[in-house]
Amino acid sequence: MLKVMNLSKKFQSGEHLVIAVNNVNFVVPDGVFAAIVGKSGSGKTSLLSLLGALDKPSNGEIFVGGENVSRMSDLHQIKYRRDKIGFVFQGYNLVPNLSAIKNVMLPLEFAGVGKLERQNRAQELLKKVGIDEIKSRRLPARLSGGEQQRVAIARALANKPDLVLADEPTGNLDSATGKIIIKLLKDLAKKEKTTIIAVTHDTAIADDADLRFTMKDGKLT
Ligand SMILES: Nc1ncnc2c1ncn2[C@@H]1O[C@H](COP(=O)(O)OP(=O)(O)OP(=O)(O)O)[C@@H](O)[C@H]1O
Ligand SMILES: [Mg+2]
Repeated sequence: MLKVMNLSKKFQSGEHLVIAVNNVNFVVPDGVFAAIVGKSGSGKTSLLSLLGALDKPSNGEIFVGGENVSRMSDLHQIKYRRDKIGFVFQGYNLVPNLSAIKNVMLPLEFAGVGKLERQNRAQELLKKVGIDEIKSRRLPARLSGGEQQRVAIARALANKPDLVLADEPTGNLDSATGKIIIKLLKDLAKKEKTTIIAVTHDTAIADDADLRFTMKDGKLT
């Protein structure tokens, strides 16, 4: 479960103060796929960065699986990001000179999983997201955008994270492929009992989510 209490993030930008995240409160249970919609500059990426411990809040607390992320030491936060969080970005961010399966094996290697187990788990995850064995041996450039995003999702799930954070995961995809990717995330949330938070501009995509939040001027409703 994800629980966010009184969360704020302020940026000092020259003379003026920007309140990117303004006293936000929400709860997302395990296995739930939540979407956050909102206009450009409303604070969506800033909020995800706080949830993933990529940035520190100015105020407030974040609990993931009972752990207080905001109170962790820097070293603990690095471990938290590696073991408990899966990230999915708009640009897929796959390593270009590694095959699809090697991309999925990478976070498992960082977590110290043995080679055979890494291979098996990666292949199984790729199968779950609809990438067969032949495609799993291809370099990212030889896969379509939708296929690359499937690989990125498999990679995000590799370490069985408590929380998957996706920032505009369908931003580079046509709307039909985007719908398929969102359905995949939603199904995986259920099957893996993972909490998934996806940010999107596209309200049509957010309509398929279990829970939907709107961000406006740093506030969440
Ligand atoms: N590192 C930073 N330093 C100063 N201001 C920042 C920083 N990061 C974000 N901001 C400001 O915080 C506000 C929210 O930005 P954020 O990137 O979270 O918006 P967003 O909802 O993700 O927008 P988009 O849909 O365009 O990606 C904006 O006014 C932005 O300029
Ligand atoms: Mg953003």
